[in-house]
Amino acid sequence: MDKLIINGMVPLNGEVSVSGAKNAVLPMLCASVMASNTCVTLKNIPHLHDVTTTVRLLRQMGVSVTLDDKMNIELDPSTIKNYYAPYDLVKTMRSSILVLGPLLAKFGNAKVSLPGGCAIGSRPVEMHLDALEKMGAKINIQNGYISAKSQKLVGSNIIFPKTTVTGTENILMASTLADGKTVISNAAREPEVVDLANFLNQMGASIRGHGTDTIEITGVRELKGISYSALPDRIETGTFLVAAAITGGKIIVKNTISSHVDIIIQKLKQAGAEISTTSTTITLDMKGKRPKPVNIETGAYPLFPTDMQAQLTALNTVADGTSVIKENIFENRFMHVQEMTRMGADIRLEQNCAIISGIDELIGASVMATDLRASASLILVGLAANGTTEIERIYHIDRGYDCIEEKLRQLGADISRVPM
Ligand code: EPU
Repeated sequence: MDKLIINGMVPLNGEVSVSGAKNAVLPMLCASVMASNTCVTLKNIPHLHDVTTTVRLLRQMGVSVTLDDKMNIELDPSTIKNYYAPYDLVKTMRSSILVLGPLLAKFGNAKVSLPGGCAIGSRPVEMHLDALEKMGAKINIQNGYISAKSQKLVGSNIIFPKTTVTGTENILMASTLADGKTVISNAAREPEVVDLANFLNQMGASIRGHGTDTIEITGVRELKGISYSALPDRIETGTFLVAAAITGGKIIVKNTISSHVDIIIQKLKQAGAEISTTSTTITLDMKGKRPKPVNIETGAYPLFPTDMQAQLTALNTVADGTSVIKENIFENRFMHVQEMTRMGADIRLEQNCAIISGIDELIGASVMATDLRASASLILVGLAANGTTEIERIYHIDRGYDCIEEKLRQLGADISRVPM
């Protein structure tokens, strides 16, 4: 197992290019099993463990998957031989649940391990299952597995009691091949959901209203293989912007979509950053200043993303004043706080809020990564801290950030990966 070693207090400077969005690519990989007799080619694929795990999952189902040296992935589902997602893969990556809707819609049969909890909260999937049952699926849960069967799914009115990203995606995918019309109310509006809908429409689906909270899908007889390039990762974008802000640096983030990170830009401006944008680039200049404290409350898109909460917590640890971060999506998403306090951060947790009193200087220490975004936030505090920070269990970071230390080194950071 590797660890990251960071010598902090180097202001970042330069240009960085953002990779394809993990949370758009994963559902697209799963949706590819619905293509009839033709291949799906996905481009702008980030080099991530979660992508590799999804490819393993699809391969063990019999899907033929070819990767080229540019990480374009070609998927041929015509060789599929089982509709099974085993526990040993699902337990490492909850988003494996995204094969459920496509398998059921195309083959009328799926057996997928229940994901169970994870480091950031309980993360149930009952909303996915209730919606599929409403569409006519017969669902049984036994021995930790969801067994789902259906002759043909039937279009229905699905009203999600709470906004769910992968729940919306599962039903969106399933309803493309259902009989008749499906309306999803209280649908997630995340850019990754929109990108998935655009991808499915190119495959021949009939989806309208994506990007709003009401999505209408008219089932079609079949979907065809296409070539599609995934959108850039807005969380990676936001993470690099915070990296520049926390080190007092100046960077240009390229190959992004600036409108997808409006709320993050707004918060970083409040923190004192000077920011200018084009549609595909963001320039952030902190001019060596210490950040001002910013209050954050997480919510579904377009509100502030929970996947950027830990990074803003990191920024506030060195801010000139006190801030409050309220986490509304996942009940346990403050695992990074204990590690940050080992570096001197002054953070008090009260229910779903972190109250942070900014300090003059963090001191490098050995810390442990507990989940993906927590790992990113520990890198950020390491970049800002005086001295050396060692981050263990960094396999979490490789699940969701494409070559993060290479990209940070390119911006001048003193960061290296060493075997433990
Ligand atoms: N929820 C339920 N029941 C369900 C489904 C969800 O109660 O059946 C609850 C969850 O417990 C949570 C809330 O609804 O409190 C929202 O969860 P959601 O279903 O939207 O989360 P998700 O689809 O499991 C995706 C991302 C996460 C991201 C969340 C929120 C993917 C693969 N994952 O998860 O990404 O944090 O949406 O935006 O798209 C990450 O990339 O680090 C990550 C965790």
